[in-house]
Amino acid sequence: LHEEEHQGHLIVPTVDYRAGRVRIIDQTLLPGEERILELGSIDEVAEAIRNMRVRGAPAIGLVAAYGVLLAVESLCADANKAPRFDRLGNAAPFDPSGIGVQDIRRRVHEARELLGGTRPTAANLFWALDRMEQAAADGDEAGRLCEKIAREAFDIHEEELEVEFTIGRNGAPYIHNGMRILTHCNAGGLATAGYGTALAVLYTAHEEGKRFHVYAGETRPLLQGARLTVWELTKHGIDVTLLCDNAAASLFADGGVDVVMVGADRIARNGDTANKIGTFGLAVLCEKFSKPLYVAAPWSTFDLTLDDGSAIPIEQRDPTEVTYRAGLEAVPAGATVYNPAFDVTPAGLITAIITERGVIERPDAATIEAMAPGGGNG
Ligand code: MRU
Repeated sequence: LHEEEHQGHLIVPTVDYRAGRVRIIDQTLLPGEERILELGSIDEVAEAIRNMRVRGAPAIGLVAAYGVLLAVESLCADANKAPRFDRLGNAAPFDPSGIGVQDIRRRVHEARELLGGTRPTAANLFWALDRMEQAAADGDEAGRLCEKIAREAFDIHEEELEVEFTIGRNGAPYIHNGMRILTHCNAGGLATAGYGTALAVLYTAHEEGKRFHVYAGETRPLLQGARLTVWELTKHGIDVTLLCDNAAASLFADGGVDVVMVGADRIARNGDTANKIGTFGLAVLCEKFSKPLYVAAPWSTFDLTLDDGSAIPIEQRDPTEVTYRAGLEAVPAGATVYNPAFDVTPAGLITAIITERGVIERPDAATIEAMAPGGGNG
């Protein structure tokens, strides 16, 4: 999982599947330590997602797809016949006799149930699990079915990276020389297949030769902005300044923000957008100071089954994320804590949503429907 060039873009591979194992970089240890974890069971994958060793909606979806593949591998291993699928090479020769297609489908379904319970807000998680379950839905020969399931996971990975490059290209025209851009949480390579969404826009603009300055909100309580976004932007050679989340209004008031660029975890049919807690506050500041707010997200983050943001399930996380800091108790014992992981920004505060299908200006039910597959824009 070293940085690599891909179609001329620098990427940080966040997730991989090699020789029957899911590989991730443990994001809870960054930036202090770059440790690669090899996950060998579906339970380890679920733990890694729940405890945010891997996080960011598209990366969660990708690792969940690989988790489903791992569950299928473990069924083969139980019969002593593990193919050890590998994203970069052929699987080991594999004799599927004795493995039933119904057993495979049951394993896929159980994996879906387990992984679907890890992080409720990220639409990409359910999108990827649906794709994996559909891939397993038909086929009456176990060997070919396993290969089809593996192919689906690898396709999700490859397509995801292409989508990120396209989002970068679609969003880069909104970035100009000398701009001061505020971002929140981490919507970069670490949150995706390696390039990003909100940060992909900045990376592409930078690759095009534009020069600008990024402000990264630290993103309490788990500090994805401070730990991950600053780490990534620095690797890309982009100037970045860190601020405490509660310094944002002051930065706006000082005239220090030209544009806010963030990612998304789930976007409802009318454009209401769930993203890391604190995004809504930045949206209100954009309105107050007449600055644009851009959301960059792949189509897999849209949930067109939900009329508006009030139906988006918001993950509530453990109070100890707030009550402990660097392992030390940070509040008086017994204090109650409000710790939602995400908030919902009303569509009316969003200037545009940048997707791989195009840019949706003034997002609402009509403009989103026009961009949807089968909609007015193709
Ligand atoms: O709780 P996290 O770290 O998974 O939250 C991540 C975010 O809110 C990101 O902005 C979002 O998933 C988009 S990532 C391309």
